[in-house]
Amino acid sequence: MQSTPAARTLDVEDLTVRYGAALAVDGVTLAIEPGEVVALLGPSGCGKTTLLRVIAGFVRQASGRVRVDGATIDHLPANQRNIGIVFQNYALFPHMTVAENVAYGLRARGVRSSEVQARISRFLDIVQLAGFRERLPRQLSGGQQQRVALARALAVEPSILLLDEPFAALDRNLRLDMQIEVKRLQRTLGLTTILVTHDQDEAMSVADRIAVMNKGKVEQFDTPVAIYDRPQTLFVNGFIGTTNLMNGKVAALHDGTATVVLDAGASFSLSAPAKISVGASVLISVRPEQLALSSVPGPGAWKIQPGLSLPLGAQLVHEARTVDGASLKIVEPRRASPADTARVYCTLAADARPTLFPRST
Ligand SMILES: Nc1ncnc2c1ncn2[C@@H]1O[C@H](COP(=O)(O)OP(=O)(O)OP(=O)(O)O)[C@@H](O)[C@H]1O
Ligand SMILES: [Mg+2]
Repeated sequence: MQSTPAARTLDVEDLTVRYGAALAVDGVTLAIEPGEVVALLGPSGCGKTTLLRVIAGFVRQASGRVRVDGATIDHLPANQRNIGIVFQNYALFPHMTVAENVAYGLRARGVRSSEVQARISRFLDIVQLAGFRERLPRQLSGGQQQRVALARALAVEPSILLLDEPFAALDRNLRLDMQIEVKRLQRTLGLTTILVTHDQDEAMSVADRIAVMNKGKVEQFDTPVAIYDRPQTLFVNGFIGTTNLMNGKVAALHDGTATVVLDAGASFSLSAPAKISVGASVLISVRPEQLALSSVPGPGAWKIQPGLSLPLGAQLVHEARTVDGASLKIVEPRRASPADTARVYCTLAADARPTLFPRST
């Protein structure tokens, strides 16, 4: 294998993209480290594909810059950007063989014929499809087609790889194989990578950092753990993982810690955002695994009406309703002992890190 090229930084600076009057990307800034994998996560239509298309050079931004290793690439046409892209739902050219598909970007870049042949061999080897050169796409499985698309993107020897939902059409097992494959290639080849996905688990497992987008904006750009444990906005909080929201009021504030009284009837302290004041209406978000059922009343326990309990693998999911009508999900390890019907209180688990949001956001 050839030596690994040095990985590049990728900087997106205050990027705005319009389609006519509509704003598809709205002031996005992302500073991506060399060799880093960033997942773009967000609802349909939030601007993920558009952002990739600008980076790749297929769509022109209204304002803002894209830099690779500090130098702007905005003036370069797509075929001079040294960026590999696997498009969303983008099939291979159906009338071309596997080898011709892989060669496509190389010919467009004027790579000479002997080099094209060498790269076809090398990258089909890498995606483990060496014996498939002469097949047509329709003679391949979905996963094999995706691997050819990946080989085609890698064949231009990019320093940056853009993947737009590359595994969406694959079944679960194959998707896992491909995720591992991409991670391995990305490491070996030193590729700075952006992966667009709808799949939170995929983002959590493959990415070094996640950018959560909403309506053209990046709401949070952080490590998977920070996004999960310390969501900065209600949108991110609701979009990532399952969460419980309860209404409450700030009763006291002291050194960045708020004492909150839940409408459901308990009170506890938690760290408060800067702009909150005493008396403010707030929403408290707690993950299901950070709540616990209890039979003991107390200041930190609130009364609940237990509902169904459903087994979920090694866990048990309890549904419950608070006295002010909020519905809760509480996850516990499955126990051998029979359910304790006296557990009509809910508390925060010992390691719970509830998040406080002002009600207006
Ligand atoms: N060629 C186009 N002309 C006009 N509007 C467009 C065009 N492409 C995308 N849009 C609009 O821009 C917005 C962002 O689209 P984009 O394709 O970037 O979203 P996305 O986040 O990739 O969504 P999905 O998850 O569904 O792929 C959407 O409102 C979309 O309708
Ligand atoms: Mg898209």
